[in-house]
Amino acid sequence: MKLEAKAFLLVVVVAAFMFLGSYFTMVVPLSDPTLNDPGKDAKPYTALELQGRQTYISEGCVYCHTQQVRSLLEETQRYGMGEEETFKRFGIRALIQAPPSQPGEYVFDKPHLLGTRRTGPDLGRVGGKYDNTWHLNHLRDPRSTSPGSIMPSYTWLFTKAGQPTPDAIALVAYLQKLGSNIKWREEGVAQYKMLHPELQQAPPVVAQTAKEVAP
Ligand code: HEC
Repeated sequence: MKLEAKAFLLVVVVAAFMFLGSYFTMVVPLSDPTLNDPGKDAKPYTALELQGRQTYISEGCVYCHTQQVRSLLEETQRYGMGEEETFKRFGIRALIQAPPSQPGEYVFDKPHLLGTRRTGPDLGRVGGKYDNTWHLNHLRDPRSTSPGSIMPSYTWLFTKAGQPTPDAIALVAYLQKLGSNIKWREEGVAQYKMLHPELQQAPPVVAQTAKEVAP
């Protein structure tokens, strides 16, 4: 029997498949009661971080940057911790992959800033990757830290003397918070050490916080 020849039956079958598709990809996940549970390490934003989030929105960072690591090897490796960084902070040479984004990380994001365009790299795991001074230099002049960067210079977030305005400090605090709702660096390194018991235990270097650069 040629289904294409029976218009009514075709419509019914297509509708049934569309219903099943939407049901299992939208209704079932949305009715998951744990969807709005914060992860065990998720913490609400501080007032400073919230102010920075507002600056992130008003400066349009979301138009070039996403905040979602998908479950693809290319992304978990690219946004993870490279050997240099792992060595500098934890004393071991290992590539620690960034875990894919999880719903519990976003419960304090209203509205979420997942983004759709990736002109720049994903920022979902950028917190802790650089220190605050790096971020301030990068915001004032992206070419100074990333040669050839096409990111605009946010000179208006700095005074004429080059000092960061409160908005710049808040923005950096927000950037440092991104991805910190799961302790993936510490857990990744702990897991790596468990798998390689021959490694010496090295004391972790604590990441710089925004307060240290605040005037
Ligand atoms: C026109 C697109 C564009 C806009 C708008 C933009 N960026 Fe970028 N951003 C980039 C590109 C491209 C890079 C990669 C090169 C570099 O490091 O500068 C980047 C890199 C970054 C990085 C480093 C990421 C990493 O993992 O190395 C951070 C942090 C960042 N941007 C923050 C911001 C913030 C905050 C804003 C808003 C104030 C912003 N960006 C606006 C394009 C953009």
